[in-house]
Amino acid sequence: MRKIHIDKVTDGTKLAKAIFSPDGKILLASGAELRESLIEKLRAFSIFEVYIEDDISKGIDIQDVICERTRIEAKTLVKNIMNNYEFSNFINIEEVKDVVGRIIDKLLSNDDILANLYNIKSVDDYTFEHSVNVCILSLLIGMGLGYNTVRLKDLGIGALLHDIGKLRIPEEILKKPSQLTVEEFEEIKKHTIYGYEILKANKNVSMASAFIAFGHHERIDGSGYPLQLKDDNIHFYAKIVAVADVFDALTSDRVYRNKLLPHEVFEYITSLGFKQFDQQAMNSFIKYVSIYPVGSGVILSTRERGIVIKQYKTMPTRPVVRIIYSKNDEKLKNFFEVDLTKTLNVCIVRSCEI
Ligand SMILES: [Fe+2]
Repeated sequence: MRKIHIDKVTDGTKLAKAIFSPDGKILLASGAELRESLIEKLRAFSIFEVYIEDDISKGIDIQDVICERTRIEAKTLVKNIMNNYEFSNFINIEEVKDVVGRIIDKLLSNDDILANLYNIKSVDDYTFEHSVNVCILSLLIGMGLGYNTVRLKDLGIGALLHDIGKLRIPEEILKKPSQLTVEEFEEIKKHTIYGYEILKANKNVSMASAFIAFGHHERIDGSGYPLQLKDDNIHFYAKIVAVADVFDALTSDRVYRNKLLPHEVFEYITSLGFKQFDQQAMNSFIKYVSIYPVGSGVILSTRERGIVIKQYKTMPTRPVVRIIYSKNDEKLKNFFEVDLTKTLNVCIVRSCEI
């Protein structure tokens, strides 16, 4: 299977993974044939990418790092908390702990993780899906740093609720499709302070988790907000969540811009890395997150194009690639595989559409 943009789907293409509505119900089951009417329905749900099965992607299995049910539960939980908090002033922290605990168990049980954080996101549900991804990515970074479960829990809770302060920001600012005015951006910045206040007021949430909400937009060179804190003055968990937050935000389609490909974001983060992000957190992140996810298209230095079919955890830039197009851009009759850990004179130039 592989993931493609909905505009590229041809009539009758087979869906390789079920698609869920924002409330967790199955919209389309795996194996469904995609017809124009169904594609329209997906667009109406702001779903713009699908996993499909076709001749060039046969036998490629793309596994999410956590199961779909846990992902939906976590997303729904964040959504309910953010929608109801202003009326109830209550966060059911036990539920949050439970869901974060299950995500941790799942991640720890898989010792060969190279995360394909490449799941389908609906533009409408962005904040909630983003929260779950930031939680997973932050936990992977924490695991890479050797954190025990107690620390992972505080990190995961703060990461899942890092943007909770947004519930106090007017919707018209949050969802504004055009550039924000200076005043509007000042308002957005306050979500860090609001989030800290909300989490601090909840006696069952640790201060470490509250500091994540406060500090996830601070940068170690002092260029962040709300206080332009520098390196040692930023809580380390907030530095972890900063890396996860930026990576997931840039690999997502937003109302105001299209997403970047994972390797472009890696380049962006690593070039800014020494100035803005914590080096230890970044090294741990690079270890666990896939630059060229399984199922994605790549161009090789030979000018051949293909699909990544297997990743090696120890060599994330040298996966196994199934070559589909020749260097003259002709589709091959017989695809073949190149294992870049064995063919050292060839390398990936960049990601591409296939
Ligand atoms: Fe934020």
